[in-house]
Amino acid sequence: MSAVTAIPALLPTYARADVTFVSGEGCWLTDTNGTRYLDLLGGIAVVSLGHLHPAPLAAAHAQLDTLWHTSNLYGTEPMARLAALLSARFAAASGRGSRAFFCNSGAEAVEAALKWARKATRRPEVVALENSFHGRTHGALAVTGQPAKRAAWEPLAPVARFACLNDIASLAAAVGPQTAAILIEPVQGEGGIHPAKAEFLAAARSLADEHGALLLYDEVQCGVGRTGTFFAWEQSGVAPDALTLAKGLANGLPIGALLVADSAPEGFAPGDHGSTFGGNPVACAAACAVVETIDSDLLAQVSANGATLASGLAALPAVDLVRGRGLMLGAELDRPAGPVSAAALEAGLLVGTAGESVLRLVPPLTVSAEELEHGLAILQEVLA
Ligand SMILES: Cc1ncc(COP(=O)(O)O)c(C=O)c1O
Repeated sequence: MSAVTAIPALLPTYARADVTFVSGEGCWLTDTNGTRYLDLLGGIAVVSLGHLHPAPLAAAHAQLDTLWHTSNLYGTEPMARLAALLSARFAAASGRGSRAFFCNSGAEAVEAALKWARKATRRPEVVALENSFHGRTHGALAVTGQPAKRAAWEPLAPVARFACLNDIASLAAAVGPQTAAILIEPVQGEGGIHPAKAEFLAAARSLADEHGALLLYDEVQCGVGRTGTFFAWEQSGVAPDALTLAKGLANGLPIGALLVADSAPEGFAPGDHGSTFGGNPVACAAACAVVETIDSDLLAQVSANGATLASGLAALPAVDLVRGRGLMLGAELDRPAGPVSAAALEAGLLVGTAGESVLRLVPPLTVSAEELEHGLAILQEVLA
């Protein structure tokens, strides 16, 4: 079961585990043999409310029975409602609303952000961070600070300079008169779960303002309640000019969003950017239900359960350090994380990795304390 399997008719872009899931409910998945697994990976921070959560399920069902697609030449109610809900969330956090562009994935949201920032400033460069991850398309890859992921596709389109996370001097050295935007994940995900310090984000804000550049946050992984606040940046109090969302927004249906603050400069005009499927009514209806379900009680539960999980992980054998916020946690191990994740799967638990030696836990936000205890008990056995 833990062996890597190949599906012959698929291109080999993933090393897939030899398990096929057929159904899910809450934090549990069932495979073709009827074996149940506790899912503390949530489709890599995507199934934010748990599998088959009744709110997005009902909303998506109702929309499937009503209208699937019209093209972006026309409006739809779910898209308009989602944009308004996200603007209200942005206003609650920053005191000003936002306008949205909808697409289908995280990388597309980053592409939209890069194009918007370059058009709004008429400048070519983007300052991003070493170890960051922003997606696999050419533009998003160009600003991803992991040379191994970029090398085969150089030269890549946008002009990118890289600074170091939480190193204000390196950021100051990278930003200049050609900088369109500074791009930061408030908590780096794929790079190993590294939170940006509030002082670093404040310095990025000041540098952007000083140089006439824009501050962009990539909240594709850390947004939508994952860290205990709706937007991860809220915990620093440093608002961006624009941000990206994707993974957890529609509980597993494909969606991405660029939110641009009302106070930010105008970037896009009709014809500048687009997406055939962006703003799909079914995905937007599910996303509205997700956003409405993430209330202050659920966010408080994320923070409380995140603290319990972090201390449980820190007490496990082989764990050197635990990083993260809320239910976006990385446990730095004294050994490679891949075999540990494979052994956990064998024992009935889904956890991920983020880099060589980091075990990544990004469960549904609705996970219970008992489920976390069960997961920790499995990890205890696997790591002993
Ligand atoms: C912070 C961040 N940005 C962008 C992406 C790319 O998202 P997608 O895989 O939906 O294109 C990811 C995916 O892991 C991510 O974590």
